[in-house]
Amino acid sequence: MSAPSNAPAASDLAYIRFVSVENMMKLVHSIGVETMLKDLARYIEDDFRRWEKFDKTPRVASHSTEGVIELMPTSDGEDYGFKYVNGHPKNTKEGLQTVTAFGLLARVSTGYPELLTEMTLLTALRTAATSAMVASHLAPKGSKVMAMIGNGAQSEFQATAMRALCGIDTLRLYDIDRAATDKVVRNLTGKGFELVPCATPEEAIQGAQIITTCTADKQYATILTDNMVGAGQHINAIGGDCPGKTELHKDILARSDVFVEYPPQTRIEGEIQQMPEDFPVTEMWQVITGAVPGRTNDRQITLFDGVGFAIEDFSALRYLRDKLRDHPFYQELDIIADPDDPRDLFGMLERAVPNG
Ligand SMILES: NC(=O)c1ccc[n+]([C@@H]2O[C@H](COP(=O)([O-])OP(=O)(O)OC[C@H]3O[C@@H](n4cnc5c(N)ncnc54)[C@H](O)[C@@H]3O)[C@@H](O)[C@H]2O)c1
Repeated sequence: MSAPSNAPAASDLAYIRFVSVENMMKLVHSIGVETMLKDLARYIEDDFRRWEKFDKTPRVASHSTEGVIELMPTSDGEDYGFKYVNGHPKNTKEGLQTVTAFGLLARVSTGYPELLTEMTLLTALRTAATSAMVASHLAPKGSKVMAMIGNGAQSEFQATAMRALCGIDTLRLYDIDRAATDKVVRNLTGKGFELVPCATPEEAIQGAQIITTCTADKQYATILTDNMVGAGQHINAIGGDCPGKTELHKDILARSDVFVEYPPQTRIEGEIQQMPEDFPVTEMWQVITGAVPGRTNDRQITLFDGVGFAIEDFSALRYLRDKLRDHPFYQELDIIADPDDPRDLFGMLERAVPNG
């Protein structure tokens, strides 16, 4: 609905930049998906390096029998960001997505928001960029083959980021639904991969240096059992991200070195929810700053228990704000009531009586 003709003009601060799905797609195509994944990984890594500056809290989750709705806030003292995201594994059966999201960035100095954006695509990109950034620290050097178990909405993003950042050129694909695997083959043909559809998870992991599990099921699942994981592999486990929703047999955790984003959240949501509260984990930001080692030998099994943390979304929002300077794919949204006299909110309303 447009404002009445005699409404006072809003000040500049009243308008925030809004990135629609259409504009996000234009932005990704304009930058190029691989370049964007590498850029995002750099922004995320930079923010992990200054981890201690951030306000941190486990995300605020509202669970139901069908899924979860979560709010993910954080701030570095200059900017404040949050994401709204859902996870509903049953949605795809009704033609809806498992994960959708939008997010906002605001100035801490005034509290005024400055950017509102779709984040369904941006979450897929930031999740993949995070996984690949982590793998660039932990996976065996020269990794070429990745097993991709779970071939849903997130999978092509994971594969593309692992190619762009880690040099993966062979994808061994498995999903309980063959149609999902066929979709990945269609989408990634001609994109620099050897694509190998597999009939079982056991077949998919043959010769893989990296195993990504990215399935969606609201239960304790066992996508990988202990006998399937061999010395020297890197596991990128990102599908288990809720209480009661895991992908790995706990024996795998016991013989891996486990790396996490933010332990207070991962102990609730990640694979390690299956382990005692004092189960040892390494925080990824400390590997990135060089405070603690990542992979130390060729036989070590490294496991990224990725659940998705607010700082990764903050990095993505920060990246988006920077990119909009050169790529004006946004609309102005009049979202903040901002009267000329800041104490005269009522007067602003009164003066805006519709004509007639
Ligand atoms: N860690 C993070 O930051 C992060 C971010 C986004 C999504 N996720 C999670 O990743 C998962 C995948 O997300 P998506 O958007 O791709 O979901 P999706 O529903 O589009 O795809 C999931 C796929 O997993 C397959 N699957 C289910 N059970 C399986 C099994 N036992 N073996 C093999 N395949 C199986 C399904 O057939 C489907 O194709 C979800 O659980 C989501 O919550 C995590």
